[in-house]
Amino acid sequence: MILVDALTKSFRRDGRDVLVLDDVSLSVGTGRIAGVIGPSGAGKSTLARCINLLERPTSGTITVGEQELTSLDDRRLQAARRSIGTIFQSANLLSSRTVAGNVALPLEIAGVPRGERRERVAELVARVGLEDHARSYPAQLSGGQRQRVGIARALALRPSVLLSDEATSGLDPDTTRSILALLRGLRDDLGLTILLITHEMEVVRDVCDQVALLRDGRIVEQGDVASLVADPASALGRGLVPARPVGTTPTGAQAWRVTYTDRAVDPGWLAGLQDELGTRVALLGASVEAVGGRPSGHVTVALDDAGLDLAARLGDRGLFAERLGADDEAQPPSAVADLVAAPPTAAEDPGTPVTRPSTTAPSATDPAAGARTGESA
Ligand SMILES: Nc1ncnc2c1ncn2[C@@H]1O[C@H](COP(=O)(O)OP(=O)(O)OP(=O)(O)O)[C@@H](O)[C@H]1O
Ligand SMILES: [Mg+2]
Repeated sequence: MILVDALTKSFRRDGRDVLVLDDVSLSVGTGRIAGVIGPSGAGKSTLARCINLLERPTSGTITVGEQELTSLDDRRLQAARRSIGTIFQSANLLSSRTVAGNVALPLEIAGVPRGERRERVAELVARVGLEDHARSYPAQLSGGQRQRVGIARALALRPSVLLSDEATSGLDPDTTRSILALLRGLRDDLGLTILLITHEMEVVRDVCDQVALLRDGRIVEQGDVASLVADPASALGRGLVPARPVGTTPTGAQAWRVTYTDRAVDPGWLAGLQDELGTRVALLGASVEAVGGRPSGHVTVALDDAGLDLAARLGDRGLFAERLGADDEAQPPSAVADLVAAPPTAAEDPGTPVTRPSTTAPSATDPAAGARTGESA
């Protein structure tokens, strides 16, 4: 479990204090995976560094498991920190050590006896699927394999919490998926609580139970991923399953955006609609996927009969419909580009072999984005 309560952090810069985290509160239950997204400079990495107390918070408390870390002196903190594993965009491996040697490092520092160490290293290397590479050196590994070594090393001291700061940012989509599957497996098998800092909405959608959007050091929106996606008013939810740019509305017709708000939407809801309404229903765009095990998404349709009230017809079917004006159609209602950060550049992170441009997203202005403060769904 991770509990962040009223955390603030300021840094001294040019003789004055700059507030980087402002009253951040967040709780991640045991065995849950929480995403933190936000633009570059929002304070995401600082939040991670405060959670493992590499940075002392200016005020507020951090509790991990049963221990309030912020109340511990340095010596007790040293021991308590073992309950937190951390992985970064660059795995930061020692090039002179093999995979096994890198994974063994925290065990050596902790004074674990050689025999026990060897056993534990073999178990960890197997857990991340690198049995065949135990004697390889980092230079002989792919980026994804290096990241696996970093994960094995982070797990060496049996932490209950794993912090991941852009750990998949330099990886291609397939490798990212395999790393996420590994993390999910670790959560399921070991009951790990995971905090994932990412700029990739797909990562949040695929693996996170909950998500918080950080902007200028404040959490502007947070909640369960599935609930946010089902909330038509949630900018974050719309960023997670963005409504794609729509086709042109036929002349005289009225376009509607339909949001899945219930877990029990009949997948055939569109089939009989045309007959039922007695007007032509044109499908202009759709983005529907399973999020948190339930159908979620946005569909844009146009009704030839502009006077019909689609909202009243669909409300009891777990679907929320809203009329689109001409402006809405020109600008898809997604502020994804606004919500997420560009990945740290290779210059900031020299250890990463591959960099990939930020997820492209339709640019849009969204008056609702950022207007919701600290609510959870
Ligand atoms: N040690 C420090 N001293 C002074 N300022 C700092 C320090 N660490 C971070 N900052 C400032 O805090 C702000 C947030 O930085 P942080 O690294 O947490 O952002 P981020 O959300 O992780 O960004 P990115 O997505 O680019 O990684 C930045 O303005 C940064 O300059
Ligand atoms: Mg960062």
